[in-house]
Amino acid sequence: MEFRDVLKRFGDNTVLQGLDFTVSRGERVTLIGPSGSGKTTILRLVMTLEELTGGYIHVGGVPLQYEEKGGKRVRIPDKRRRRTTTDIGMVFQHFNLFPNMTVLENIVEAPIHVKGLSRADAVSKAEGLLAKVGMGEKRDMKPSQLSGGQQQRVAIARALAMDPEILLLDEVTSALDPELVGEVLAVLKDIAAETDISMLIVTHEMQFARDVSDRVMMFDQGSIVEEGPPAQIFSEPAHQRTRDFLRAVL
Ligand SMILES: Nc1ncnc2c1ncn2[C@@H]1O[C@H](COP(=O)(O)OP(=O)(O)OP(=O)(O)O)[C@@H](O)[C@H]1O
Ligand SMILES: [Mg+2]
Repeated sequence: MEFRDVLKRFGDNTVLQGLDFTVSRGERVTLIGPSGSGKTTILRLVMTLEELTGGYIHVGGVPLQYEEKGGKRVRIPDKRRRRTTTDIGMVFQHFNLFPNMTVLENIVEAPIHVKGLSRADAVSKAEGLLAKVGMGEKRDMKPSQLSGGQQQRVAIARALAMDPEILLLDEVTSALDPELVGEVLAVLKDIAAETDISMLIVTHEMQFARDVSDRVMMFDQGSIVEEGPPAQIFSEPAHQRTRDFLRAVL
């Protein structure tokens, strides 16, 4: 995943500017930084839930929203955008399961309708994933009958059901009661250990960030303040803004 000279404005509010970074295949990168620094916006741009104002994002070498053609910046049509984002899974802070569907239906929906899997294959795959996230018993429940941690584990299984090459995680534990945070992070750590899915993670769980990240990027006001391996960023941050931020969250 490559960001090149990315610019994002909401009206006259410039949220991201001159943003360049690459996430290699299989790499886990955590974004940290104060509220409003643009972390969620970055993930939403990758999902094409937000329109790029300037610059380019490539995923697996494929331009996502805009491409350069004859020296011009040309918008990529929605149909092609959707094809590229099929390989990207996202889990949000607020469990966004379909409330009127069972756990199992939530998971098989996209594999059947987007990827064209047979129902039998989708169900068997969903059962494997539910077992992996410790939710095998709950397949016929509705989301409202689950705890927040359980809903979030289903949301993770739903993202994985599409065999994503990239997983985007936006503060997936910050709406949870403290005693439910651990079970969700444990599932994510297992996935990080057992797969080579690239991950772009926003989290305030600094121990989790240390455990799973190859690299941590500190953001402020829409640009990268510093980046490096977690041991370096958390133990010897080079910038005062990073030190202030870490003191506030730790
Ligand atoms: N849909 C929108 N319309 C207008 N402004 C927006 C929109 N979404 C985000 N913004 C603005 O973009 C900036 C960055 O927001 P973003 O949600 O990316 O920050 P964040 O780093 O994820 O913050 P937090 O840690 O609080 O989640 C903020 O100033 C926010 O007000
Ligand atoms: Mg956010």
